Amino acid sequence: MQVQLKVNGKPATIDVAPNTLLVTAIREHLRLTGTHVGCDTAQCGACTILLNGRAVKSCNTLAVQHPGAEITTIEGIAAADGAMHPMQAAFKDCHGLQCGFCTPGMVMSAIDLCKRHPNASEAEIREHLEGNICRCTGYQNIVKAVQQGAAATAAAA
Ligand code: FES
Ligand code: FES
Repeated sequence: MQVQLKVNGKPATIDVAPNTLLVTAIREHLRLTGTHVGCDTAQCGACTILLNGRAVKSCNTLAVQHPGAEITTIEGIAAADGAMHPMQAAFKDCHGLQCGFCTPGMVMSAIDLCKRHPNASEAEIREHLEGNICRCTGYQNIVKAVQQGAAATAAAA
């Protein structure tokens, strides 16, 4: 089935089987491999993208369910000149990553939170990120990064 999408600001048409997960379409059909697969069972959050502006786990939905959708992946958030998105810069500054496997999903989830709640408390950030698992950092620096990147992310929205 053909599905027309807008991916990182550009029109894209994919030809997929009806049972193709959105994450598979993103990684294998669109070749945007910054979106990771850590579990395939909607637990780890590594596959988080923005679907029509909201963070979703792309392993938990089918590509054919979203004709006309706007999809933003980690590849689509940097500025036109290549400068990092403020949330990416905050993760770098605050050492909010180690191996980096969870990072694309963490960043996309954090962007969704901060666009809607730029003044989210530490507790609200931790609650929002409950669906994103990091095996490396212990979360402390991830929470610091989200706090640091929040205002600039909201301003950029
Ligand atoms: Fe989607 Fe783990 S790969 S939640
Ligand atoms: Fe390694 Fe999060 S930085 S899983």
